[in-house]
Amino acid sequence: MKLGILSCSPNCYSTRRLREAAEQRNHSVKVLNSLKFAIDLEEGSPDLFYNQKHLSDYDAVLPRIGASITYFGTAVVRQFEQMDVFCANTSGGISNSRDKLRSLQILSRHYIGIPKTTFVRDKKDVLPAIERVGGAPVIIKLIEGTQGIGVLLAESTKSAEAIIELLQSQKQNVLVQKFVAESKGKDIRAFVVGDQVVGAMRRVAQGQEFRSNVHRGGVTEQVDLDERYKETAVRSAQIMGLRIAGVDMLESKDGPQVMEVNSSPGLEGIETCTQLDIAGAIVDYIGAQVDFPEIDVRQRLTVSRGYGVAEIHLPEGSSYLGQTVAASGLRDNDVNVLTLYRGTSVIPNPRSDRILEAGDRLLCFGKLESMKGLIPKKTRKRRSMKVQPLQESDVAHIES
Ligand SMILES: Nc1ncnc2c1ncn2[C@@H]1O[C@H](COP(=O)(O)OP(=O)(O)O)[C@@H](O)[C@H]1O
Ligand SMILES: [Mg+2]
Repeated sequence: MKLGILSCSPNCYSTRRLREAAEQRNHSVKVLNSLKFAIDLEEGSPDLFYNQKHLSDYDAVLPRIGASITYFGTAVVRQFEQMDVFCANTSGGISNSRDKLRSLQILSRHYIGIPKTTFVRDKKDVLPAIERVGGAPVIIKLIEGTQGIGVLLAESTKSAEAIIELLQSQKQNVLVQKFVAESKGKDIRAFVVGDQVVGAMRRVAQGQEFRSNVHRGGVTEQVDLDERYKETAVRSAQIMGLRIAGVDMLESKDGPQVMEVNSSPGLEGIETCTQLDIAGAIVDYIGAQVDFPEIDVRQRLTVSRGYGVAEIHLPEGSSYLGQTVAASGLRDNDVNVLTLYRGTSVIPNPRSDRILEAGDRLLCFGKLESMKGLIPKKTRKRRSMKVQPLQESDVAHIES
């Protein structure tokens, strides 16, 4: 395959290793500086220029987008997606991962363990927020920090309030998070490629430091993860829309708690610690997936008028309970069940003989009218679609 590595640092360890791994496997590979692209838009033909020249055809790109160039970098990845080039990580996934609030919001509905977190703005909400996450000591985090910069531990409620007030006065958005004390300056970095953890390490903070980032002096040790940790890491990456990810987890007394999912995880730490060819695993994965470019499902499936994607909840008492997917008549009404969510399990492409249960959520694609009929009347939101003419009294109200 012809692989493009999108990176602004051609000489850094990760980029060098990825290029080497691709060359060893006889792929044609080029490191493309993400900032040297021009994105051209024209009806029906999204296009890219590189160094003022028309970009040649690539089978796949591996984005390694640094935090400082997220906006332009993800725009380039999005353009490759529009051009049907396989992107090892999607633009949406990279954007999700860059924002600690957004990532936790997305993960929180999927039964993934996360440290209890709140996001507040009003001064009056600060104290109750600190209390809700368990009180001091408490973690305060900038939404877009990396390498441990922007993660603070406030020992008392008073200092927590003061820090939050100071940061907010500087127009910084902050998260208030439960301090997982039993993790004691340690965390787990699981390196996910596709649907596997290909390597993992524990990072241990040194001295008084509670942050275990390697950039803060954290020391790494190899670790064999149990299934629970592996499963959490892989699912977190998938939920975020990332195929290649570094998932950071705390070892809490209740099991894994995901702090963040990194979309351009460094290779040096993990390869040195595990002595595994992680770069090779990434290249092999891309080679095997290249025929299935990631697509923005909603964008593609909602182009036909009257059709769309919806999640249908089957409450207690629904007439569908106890019926098989086939007998439910969904298909006859032009509705396909793509995925069934049952508690913490996810059943893709449920078979037609699967019996529906109370609490199931069905992700469906189909005729919107038919799907509307499946939502119980009480929970259906009423929206008036008829646009009413503006009254004179409205205008008077707006102007006053
Ligand atoms: N809620 C928490 N409880 C205990 N330690 C934490 C918590 N959140 C972060 N840490 C420590 O701080 C480090 C950095 O936090 P993280 O959220 O990963 O930010 P960054 O993006 O800067 O790496 C973690 O690796 C962990 O050691
Ligand atoms: Mg981290």
